[in-house]
Amino acid sequence: MKKLHLFLTPASILMICAGMILTSPVTIAQQTVKPGKSIVIPRKVNKALTASCMPCHSDSGKAKRALNLSQWTTYDRARQLNKVKEIGSEVSRDKMPPAMFVENNPDLALTARQKALIAKWAKSSASARK
Ligand code: HEC
Repeated sequence: MKKLHLFLTPASILMICAGMILTSPVTIAQQTVKPGKSIVIPRKVNKALTASCMPCHSDSGKAKRALNLSQWTTYDRARQLNKVKEIGSEVSRDKMPPAMFVENNPDLALTARQKALIAKWAKSSASARK
């Protein structure tokens, strides 16, 4: 028992914590995701999501709880996978962007081509293996 007490001094606990941080795959300061595990958003899809979704789904948007594209790279893979499926589903069913938003911002509506691109990206990302 004495030995155990000696081992778990505050200094050694600190060293164990430091070791855990240093060997962690996620860089906490930069909040980057482990390379290769992230679902990449292709340029054209990115452009469409930026224009038509980020007014609401970004750090400064009011629907950031449901989806925050500003924080996409900080989502872990499971969350990205879940969100990519939701995005595909919402866009395919014409639920997002909301009808009111499209009415007020007709220039920000998704084109048929953009919808198809998003649906294809969502489908292939959701079915891709790690
Ligand atoms: C005018 C603001 C607005 C825009 C623009 C918008 N959304 Fe949303 N979105 C919301 C709100 C509000 C919610 C949460 C309430 C709800 O589920 O209806 C939401 C919810 C979602 C969800 C979560 C649905 C779920 O099952 O919980 C997804 C995914 C989503 N939006 C995707 C998108 C995508 C993709 C776009 C762009 C193509 C987009 N949204 C554009 C306001 C917006």
